[in-house]
Amino acid sequence: MAYITHVQPFLDRQTETWTYVVYDKVGGQAAIIDPVLDFDYASGRTSSKNAQEVIDFVHQQQLTVVWILETHAHADHLSAAPLIRQQLGGKIATGDKITQVQKTFKDAFNLEKEFSVDGSQFDYLFAEDEVFQLGQLACKAIATPGHTPSDMSWIIGDAVFIGDTLFMPDVGTARCDFPGGDAATLYRSAKKLLAMPMDTRLFTCHDYPVGDREYQYVATVAEQREKNIHLRDGISEEEFVAMRAKRDAGLAMPRLIIPSIQVNIRAGNMPPAEDNGTVYLKLPINRLGS
Ligand SMILES: [Fe+2]
Repeated sequence: MAYITHVQPFLDRQTETWTYVVYDKVGGQAAIIDPVLDFDYASGRTSSKNAQEVIDFVHQQQLTVVWILETHAHADHLSAAPLIRQQLGGKIATGDKITQVQKTFKDAFNLEKEFSVDGSQFDYLFAEDEVFQLGQLACKAIATPGHTPSDMSWIIGDAVFIGDTLFMPDVGTARCDFPGGDAATLYRSAKKLLAMPMDTRLFTCHDYPVGDREYQYVATVAEQREKNIHLRDGISEEEFVAMRAKRDAGLAMPRLIIPSIQVNIRAGNMPPAEDNGTVYLKLPINRLGS
């Protein structure tokens, strides 16, 4: 079958994140999903190698960027959304429950009083089931909380971008132990995705290949329902929640969670510079993790 939606994936090997350029046709309208800003923790330096690949592709295909979509406030990489917007235009958007995540982390990081928790750092917040258009492609914002309270999936034409819900079938599902995360909620969100037509393509935000297989980014609903190690047909919510609790208890915090969260709840912007003109991030001691 011929697919309608054009999807160009980009892999950041450092954080094993997939960024997508999604568009209706060459010369048409595009959305960029989950762009990555390169970040070297040891030096505190950012760079734009990943973002530049995306920008070059958009120019080559002569696309007009309408949306820069974040599936959620990522804990493993810094967003390059502001850099992409500066170079290509478009509106930075995410789900409207981002306000909950902002409240949680404003408190955890004791952020400046002026940091507002109304989502206004983003250009636009999508409500659950809100419909929109990308050129010739009909789109819909689907709320898929569980990994975090504000996770969204984006239906764009005949493709669905599922963020951190399901991963490839042999990897399973996203962790649910971040503040506001909940395994039963993730189970119900994933079931919503798995109720879509069997040949629907589900594009994931990460891949963590098992053994020596190559990185992959897409599986159909049918493949997920048959083979997903955590959520194939027949696995109950109770079994899933028990499996996730056990698994999450053994996971370390992602390497870049502390810088990522502080930047990503500001829609990818850095905190205000201090009076010497330099931007600093905080490191809370004995506050996150366990
Ligand atoms: Fe995530």
